[in-house]
Amino acid sequence: MLTWEKIDAVDGWYGFHSYALWRGLLDFQKAQGIRGDLFEIGVWRGRSAAVLASYQEEGETLYLCDLKVDDAAIRTAFESVGAAGRKLVAISAPSSQLPGRLDLRALHQSVRWMHIDGEHTGSAVYSELELAHQLARPDGLVVIDDFFSPRYPANTTEAVRYLEKNPFHFRLFAVSFNKGYFCRPESLAKYMDFAAGNLSEALLGYGCKTTLFKTTGAFDTDAIGITGFVDEAGRIAGPDNDPHYWNMLRQQPVRSLRARLRNAWRELRRRQG
Ligand SMILES: C[S@@+](CC[C@H](N)C(=O)[O-])C[C@H]1O[C@@H](n2cnc3c(N)ncnc32)[C@H](O)[C@@H]1O
Repeated sequence: MLTWEKIDAVDGWYGFHSYALWRGLLDFQKAQGIRGDLFEIGVWRGRSAAVLASYQEEGETLYLCDLKVDDAAIRTAFESVGAAGRKLVAISAPSSQLPGRLDLRALHQSVRWMHIDGEHTGSAVYSELELAHQLARPDGLVVIDDFFSPRYPANTTEAVRYLEKNPFHFRLFAVSFNKGYFCRPESLAKYMDFAAGNLSEALLGYGCKTTLFKTTGAFDTDAIGITGFVDEAGRIAGPDNDPHYWNMLRQQPVRSLRARLRNAWRELRRRQG
């Protein structure tokens, strides 16, 4: 069974807050019926990959890329969380070689979770985002490690440059615990809705008390920030702990109750049919 204690026993960098957030978001993907492959660049001993393996469903493949994939360590890590025997594709090469190693046509928009935690140079992260654009599903997430980390400035500047040059590929959804979370523009509302509603509760469910900052609105880079719990701010806060921007949107009923019920009914029929 997947627990933080088991993940923490695996050598690596992946921290507790990210563990809780990944679980919250992976649970959300499951509840939404979002299925697809999982991908990690920069695996080390399989610490974060073990979480992905735990969430891997029948028919999904976990792709692991590292300069030298440590098969034995990864097997041990996966076994420790009860995720032995998963369908894996391990590629021992720099991520720059991935486009030549993968069947990109078959993998087109098939990946629901991609974690980029490899070289951390600007040129590498830029190419990795080019690859992510080919692989990520319309409702998938791409997670970049060390986003806004002072250790790797180019990792952030070049990811942002990629976004600027390709505004319709990805949007920044969240910045949290040393990682940036990106989704497709068309899925931003889905993930934002979850963040506004159940995300902090979901994190608490994994023992992680947080404050979710919503310091700007839809007119802007409409991303959230998540930190450890800040007493004066509470669970969700805006700039300087003032009311957050969701309040402002929510004061205006965008749709009537009747319209929401009608939409829910249509959605139900669409799913059944
Ligand atoms: C910070 S570690 C990964 C940590 C891991 N995700 C964890 O859960 O702790 C970075 C890894 O990226 C690998 N790496 C470095 N440059 C790379 C590249 N160009 N392509 C793929 N992997 C790379 C390193 O070998 C190392 O194992």
